[in-house]
Amino acid sequence: MSMRSHLANSVTEALDGQTVQLCGWVNRRRDHGGVIFIDLRDHSGFVQVVVDPDTAEAFSRAEHLRSECVLRIEGRVRMRPEGTANANIPSGKIEVLAKDLQVLSMAEPIPFQLDDKNTSEEIRLKYRYLDLRRDAMQNNMRTRAQTVRIMRRYLEDRGFNEIETPILTKSTPEGARDYLVPSRTHQGEFFALPQSPQLFKQMLMMSGMDRYYQVARCFRDEDLRADRQPEFTQVDMEASFVDQEEYMAIMEGLFKTVFQEVLGQSFEGDFQQMPYSEAMRRFGSDRPDMRFGMELVDVADLLQDIEFKVFAAPAKDPKSRVVAMCVPNGGEMSRKEIDDYTQFVSIYGAKGLAWIKVNNIENGIEGLQSPIVKFFPDQVMQILERVGAKNGDLVFFGADKAKVVNDAIGALRVKVAEDRNMMEKQWAPLWVVDFPMFEYDDKANRYVAVHHPFTAPKGGLEALAEGADLANLTAKAYDLVLNGIELGGGSVRIHDPRMQSRVFELLGLSQEDIEGKFGWFVEALQYGTPPHAGMAFGLDRLVMMMVGAPSIRDVIAFPKTQSAACVLTNAPSDVAATQLRELGLRPRVVEAKA
Ligand code: AMO
Ligand code: AMP
Repeated sequence: MSMRSHLANSVTEALDGQTVQLCGWVNRRRDHGGVIFIDLRDHSGFVQVVVDPDTAEAFSRAEHLRSECVLRIEGRVRMRPEGTANANIPSGKIEVLAKDLQVLSMAEPIPFQLDDKNTSEEIRLKYRYLDLRRDAMQNNMRTRAQTVRIMRRYLEDRGFNEIETPILTKSTPEGARDYLVPSRTHQGEFFALPQSPQLFKQMLMMSGMDRYYQVARCFRDEDLRADRQPEFTQVDMEASFVDQEEYMAIMEGLFKTVFQEVLGQSFEGDFQQMPYSEAMRRFGSDRPDMRFGMELVDVADLLQDIEFKVFAAPAKDPKSRVVAMCVPNGGEMSRKEIDDYTQFVSIYGAKGLAWIKVNNIENGIEGLQSPIVKFFPDQVMQILERVGAKNGDLVFFGADKAKVVNDAIGALRVKVAEDRNMMEKQWAPLWVVDFPMFEYDDKANRYVAVHHPFTAPKGGLEALAEGADLANLTAKAYDLVLNGIELGGGSVRIHDPRMQSRVFELLGLSQEDIEGKFGWFVEALQYGTPPHAGMAFGLDRLVMMMVGAPSIRDVIAFPKTQSAACVLTNAPSDVAATQLRELGLRPRVVEAKA
């Protein structure tokens, strides 16, 4: 016989008079003058159980129950008395009168109340198994499972095969920092955990697998943020004999299917595609949030000859930008708010945040309030016209190296929109395309790949020839951005070994390096490689957005903290000296402590 006949939320008035068996946790227990009420909780919901002193054995057990004890109840369903129904739950019209109550597990007093919204994340993570009992977390984990199910089905229907690739693999330069695993059988040598299955999936295309996917765990030892974890999950895909447009269409279909089936959200038409350069110019970001306007408008051409050096110098420098951003109705901002925003942009290296309040544009410069208009009285009206400023608006200015302006005013744009509830749409997906192939790394003094070095350039091998303009080369790369968050990225790959070697060369790798680090891969390309393209979605970010969670930690069952540790198991931790000896390792930190 099964332990239970029904789940909590399936016990409704249709079962009035019937006997049911239920299993679950004591969510709450109330003593009501001789009668005990138990809110019994399982993964489906709640049901109210009534224990009467007439059923003596059940009653004496119920007297000693604590929250989170695990019970099996057998009882009769009956209608709740008039006026005591709860319209919020499916079982709200009935209650179950217990005939038998078995305590399957007692529970110690729990370290925090599950419904206490003020519990610190540290405590929630330390007792994650309790935290996961909460409704919101149950919903997050189930939505995640549903999302994977839908993605699998979509991909399987289109000929993608799920294939696993190694977790113990080779360190690949050019990525983030690796997590390393020492080898016992090859002492002094290390495996790396994969940052992504990139090279393996490309080799599967060389293997003639045609289409591959994997729900792949990836490991990157980078600085953590709300949307970054050291281990995270990609839905990783690759397909042969497809061009960029065809491949992107399959990915867009995948995204749309997930949103339709999880949220009932449909999107009309194809997603907008925007070149990287346009995204940077209009929004200061390669992942612009398209839920609102408030664009960055270049005004350098008007300010080159003014006395005010803060603006004139960058206005004349081709590597700098001077932009204006008009905040609708921003005139109501207080001095303190403006000061806070000035503080905010300083995080991104901005040295100040000039502003103009447009009180009465009909009065010309007299109708403006600003610490800077006195420096360019002849140009100001033209600037206001260019940004479309109206009475009541406020215009912010950023002037500096292009990177500082893009980072600072790009982030300010999003912050102001969030603070002022300016979102005009719930969902704004966007493809960002035509990424630069390379970008110059001032610290390393060489070019680095913007996506990864296996991405094909536009223009073929000629585009990479001697004397090529590397800074302006575009890649066949694409990112899917949703509400300002990069959900996924991919590219058409290089399938010509000569082109792959050339890209490595341009990235400053010596022939020796190419041989040593990627020789095996360049060789693999030589035996007949189909043209192929691929992409990976960040599953954690996708689910985080769909459930509206503030952090990807909320959609990962057992995430790491901001300092990349697991407070539940206390990992990372010491290991026995014998383990280290077997691996041929001696930690310097421990020596120092001794
Ligand atoms: P990329 O590095 O852009 O591409 O990663 C793909 C997607 O994975 C997610 N992501 C992360 N999510 C959580 N925590 C992290 N630390 C993290 N880093 C990345 C993002 C990102 O868009 N091999 C290529 C894909 C390809 O070209 O096919 C790759 O890994 O949502
Ligand atoms: P200052 O001449 O330094 O007093 O600056 C006058 C105004 O310009 C102040 O409102 C500053 O916040 C602003 N400002 C200074 N540097 C910059 C900059 N690089 N970009 C935008 N505004 C700036």
